[in-house]
Amino acid sequence: MGLRRHVFRLCLLAIGLSLLAAPAAAQSVNRAAIDELNAQLLYVALPLTLFVELTLVYAIYRFRDNDDPRPTVDDPALEITWTAATGAILVFVGVSAFVVMANPYITPAAAQASTDGDAFANDTEIDVLAYQWGWEFSYGEANVTTEERLVLPADENVTFRLRTTDVIHAIYIPQLGVKQDIFPSQTMTARTRATEPGEYRLYCAEMCGAGHSKMNATVVVKNQSAYDAWMENQTAAAG
Ligand code: CUA
Repeated sequence: MGLRRHVFRLCLLAIGLSLLAAPAAAQSVNRAAIDELNAQLLYVALPLTLFVELTLVYAIYRFRDNDDPRPTVDDPALEITWTAATGAILVFVGVSAFVVMANPYITPAAAQASTDGDAFANDTEIDVLAYQWGWEFSYGEANVTTEERLVLPADENVTFRLRTTDVIHAIYIPQLGVKQDIFPSQTMTARTRATEPGEYRLYCAEMCGAGHSKMNATVVVKNQSAYDAWMENQTAAAG
């Protein structure tokens, strides 16, 4: 029968799409948390979408050419059921999203406030200065400063202290799941632990004038020994 074959095809399509959407290995703990949330929501959304669409297809097919339509009757039990089911789904989405938002890598400011700023005392600290139009990265302890090139140690907690000299900018490193607005005369905080050595792109994600689209930088994640060697090199060059 035609309908059954359509249903079968829809199911195959849904399974194929869910396989496509399965995330590859994440490049940071932030990214891992965000990818996991996306996957969780997808696994709830997919059967729901399928259920709604199949119900629609069924209704169109079943009630086509209906010469004797009757008005819909009240069904309180059914209405309570779908309202409660919708509520449960919204609570699930809200709680899952909140858990990721509260993650100290995603929203470090909250964890910092609750511990008087001591929470990340063992992190590598990097001062990030955004300006029209570029980026400057300073490694406080080492007295090292780089431009348009952010070098990070892999598997280390890193705290960014973010400042701007002029207007609002936003640091955005998609592959590491880092994104934070930077407001004038405030020091913002972002945090990550990169897990995959490699090169990534850093963008400004806040419209900040004519040079906004060129306000990019390269992020280089190095394993610990390569990072130490790089730092030694920079210190020697500076000193
Ligand atoms: Cu800075 Cu856009």
